[in-house]
Amino acid sequence: MRVEAPGGFLVLPWPGGGGGSDPALDLEPVEEDQGGLLLRSGALVGLILICVTVLRRWIAGGVCRSPARLDGKTVLITGANTGIGKETSRDMARRGARVVMACRDLTRAEQAAEEIRQSTGNGNVVIRHLDLSSVYSVRQFSKDFIDTEDRLDVLINNAGVMMCPRWLTEDGFETQLAVNHLGHFLLTNLLLPMLKSSVPSRVVTVSSIAHRGGRIDFDDLFSSRKTYSSMESYRQSKLANILFSRELGRRLTGSGVSSFCLHPGVIRTELGRHVEGWFPMLGTLLRLPSLLLMKTPSQGCQTTMYCAVTPGLEGQSGRYFSDCEEKEAAPEGRDNVVARKLWEESAQLVGLKDTC
Ligand SMILES: NC(=O)c1ccc[n+]([C@@H]2O[C@H](COP(=O)([O-])OP(=O)(O)OC[C@H]3O[C@@H](n4cnc5c(N)ncnc54)[C@H](OP(=O)(O)O)[C@@H]3O)[C@@H](O)[C@H]2O)c1
Repeated sequence: MRVEAPGGFLVLPWPGGGGGSDPALDLEPVEEDQGGLLLRSGALVGLILICVTVLRRWIAGGVCRSPARLDGKTVLITGANTGIGKETSRDMARRGARVVMACRDLTRAEQAAEEIRQSTGNGNVVIRHLDLSSVYSVRQFSKDFIDTEDRLDVLINNAGVMMCPRWLTEDGFETQLAVNHLGHFLLTNLLLPMLKSSVPSRVVTVSSIAHRGGRIDFDDLFSSRKTYSSMESYRQSKLANILFSRELGRRLTGSGVSSFCLHPGVIRTELGRHVEGWFPMLGTLLRLPSLLLMKTPSQGCQTTMYCAVTPGLEGQSGRYFSDCEEKEAAPEGRDNVVARKLWEESAQLVGLKDTC
């Protein structure tokens, strides 16, 4: 039974609602209704897919479009067994470079290296042991590297630790500042002669947008006296990355070695492992949103690759990048006085007499 309602709308009878309706007559509107429902669902799914695609493209950010080949070049990447460092290693290997993956866990490093050799067909991917939390390890690594490698074209200071508890390293340094900044500071300085003999060469340091609001607390760098905040300590270490890269660029002006620093985006990696440790359910809860809202590690290595291989960036040495373009660091990351003071303090802490 079909009833014409005011306004021309079709009022359907309640299914099985009796009223002696003719089943043959009822069939047509039900099919119409199912067809309309299907159409509307299809349109909704399509719209969601378009929105997700647009959102994913936007989240992915910039892409390194340089086709530069790196045959005959040597690239050293710290923290290369996972996350951004692993994907950077893969991209470098694809471009034909000799890739040295500097990692503290050689078992995981070899697994990652083998996967990269297989996926790129580049057998010139090697692993070396480096624990950035140890001054001894950094010195040992650098000596072995200089003794056995011929050149160093790109150094990528990528390894990092975020928001761990207040752990002290064997040298008595707070871990985040030690690994993220001091280890890389020492490594770069020890390898500088090799970078200089391979010019034009580059140092790329992976920082973070977390440098905003950070402060270098020269009176208490390792939170020995104040209450430790893992977030503030991470901020300090990432600000230190930017100030170090800036000061390095300034000191190396005209040398043929360029220095770049970057924020890679927000990426699905193992970086949050210490935060997840505090809230065991957090990882599970964030799994689905993170699939939608975070970059993949391969997307996350694009700005690193951009800074490492794009021709003609030398004039921007010392600057800060994000999404494959130069961006302005926060004011605290542009303070040359603090940058110089941090350099001198860092040299003293790691026992470096001669810096550039
Ligand atoms: N993921 C993001 O959203 C994001 C955002 C902004 C900046 N970043 C920066 O990006 C860089 C890479 O992080 P990621 O996201 O790829 O994190 P990840 O997946 O946790 O990778 C970090 C790498 O650093 C290594 N590492 C940690 N401590 C080390 C030490 N003492 N000596 C040598 N290597 C050490 C880790 O080795 P193990 O596996 O042995 O621990 C690992 O290979 C970091 O500098 C981070 O601050 C990341």
